[in-house]
Amino acid sequence: EEVCPIVVDDYGIKRKAIYYIPTYPDSYGIDFNFCNKCGKCVRVCPDISLDESERYIEVGAIVVATGLKDYDASLIKEYGYGKYNNVLTKLEFERKFVGGLIKPKSVVIVNCAGSRDKNHLPYCSRICCLLSLKEAKLIKDINPDIEVYITYTDMRSYGQFEEFYNTLRENHGIKFIQGKPSDIFQDNDGNLIVRSEDILLGENIEIITDCVVLMTGFVPDNELFQKLGIVNNGHFPVEYVNSSCSVDSNPRGIFITGAAAFPKSVSETIIDARESANSVIEILSKDFVENKTPVAVINSDICSEIDCRICITVCPYGAVYIEDERITINEVLCMGCGTCTATCAAGANQLEGYDNKGVLAQISKMINDGDILAFLCKWSSYNAADKAGYERLWYGENVKIIRVPCTGSIDAQMILKAFSSGAKGVLIAGCPPNACHYLTGNFKARKRVIALKELICQFGINPESLRIEWIGKDESKKFVNILNEMNNDGKEKT
Ligand code: FES
Repeated sequence: EEVCPIVVDDYGIKRKAIYYIPTYPDSYGIDFNFCNKCGKCVRVCPDISLDESERYIEVGAIVVATGLKDYDASLIKEYGYGKYNNVLTKLEFERKFVGGLIKPKSVVIVNCAGSRDKNHLPYCSRICCLLSLKEAKLIKDINPDIEVYITYTDMRSYGQFEEFYNTLRENHGIKFIQGKPSDIFQDNDGNLIVRSEDILLGENIEIITDCVVLMTGFVPDNELFQKLGIVNNGHFPVEYVNSSCSVDSNPRGIFITGAAAFPKSVSETIIDARESANSVIEILSKDFVENKTPVAVINSDICSEIDCRICITVCPYGAVYIEDERITINEVLCMGCGTCTATCAAGANQLEGYDNKGVLAQISKMINDGDILAFLCKWSSYNAADKAGYERLWYGENVKIIRVPCTGSIDAQMILKAFSSGAKGVLIAGCPPNACHYLTGNFKARKRVIALKELICQFGINPESLRIEWIGKDESKKFVNILNEMNNDGKEKT
């Protein structure tokens, strides 16, 4: 650390590019975002390696516990971060204030800075309200004479934190203002003016202060998730809550813990960490990995005849590979989505318990003239159909349902079989964009359906009778409306 020439400003505190990290077990770490690899540290400690390519370790499980990043406050132009020195983020404020680098007379803490805002972060980061209470208490503990204001949209102090909120409001003189500031600017005397509405008073107000703390929301480490092939919902990793597989990780062997999954408090993070530790122990304590989902199986005799190798390119998990000149499935990596099986024209690649022959036989037995066949993804639309049942929503009895692991598993043969068996329509309903549990199975299915529409046209089948839709697990009404539209040849049922 002493010989490192690079000084980094870490949220108001100066440190070196190689620095002490007081976690458990405590150690020194290198911040490769700033390290210029001059090699001075290696000269004094040969155990240090600056070559990142050497850092491959073979492991049986990965726990992603990287936490979150602050949303970039400078993107919220109206709050003047980066323009006015005393508009700070929460971490900057805390470090500067506790370190005695700033001595404000009043502080305005702005909650929901950029959160619940379609121009920035559409979601609530959940813990910022609690952090604002913590900062307010910290200020009052150090200097009770400092005036503290907290602006908020809705105060989310869940569980036992409500008592903490009430204590601060009633006993510490902290002023809570319901309203989201529209503007922060500086007057000629150098004071900061926070302009906001006060919803409870029903009027616009201006607070004069010498320090503003922006409680920005949190953003995930998407770059890392992408590298690990973890599905995210546009912001955070998808949580699997609607199936018996809810505790399985996806991809297998990778566990996302604590605030890496979504903003969480320390106690929630500890609970999560325990669960991940148990899951890892379960894997590492055995000599084998138990497969809870069916996996793809290759019939090498048929496969070697065709040798197209398309299945290798579509597998989102790299589970299909070549060994001894043969296509092989890594059963540990395979998640059983069936995307690869749908690309095999020869039928050499099949999903256990869901083979083509069986599905085609099922279709020809269940479909009668005038029926509609709905292929429903088990993670999303199948649950919507279930919900439609509970809610007693009506759709025609000519609708026949086949539950599929992912819409990516449906091949052209299955669809054509439905039409040739007399179906007047085929619906393929899967997870909404960015929510497919197998990364892009739903998009691959859509591509396949678009191509197939042109083909069925040539057989005299109306392409409109083949539909692909995104239907989330709660969208029972959407599910029923689509089927009723299909039963009424595109017209809504009155
Ligand atoms: Fe639902 Fe892929 S998992 S469409």
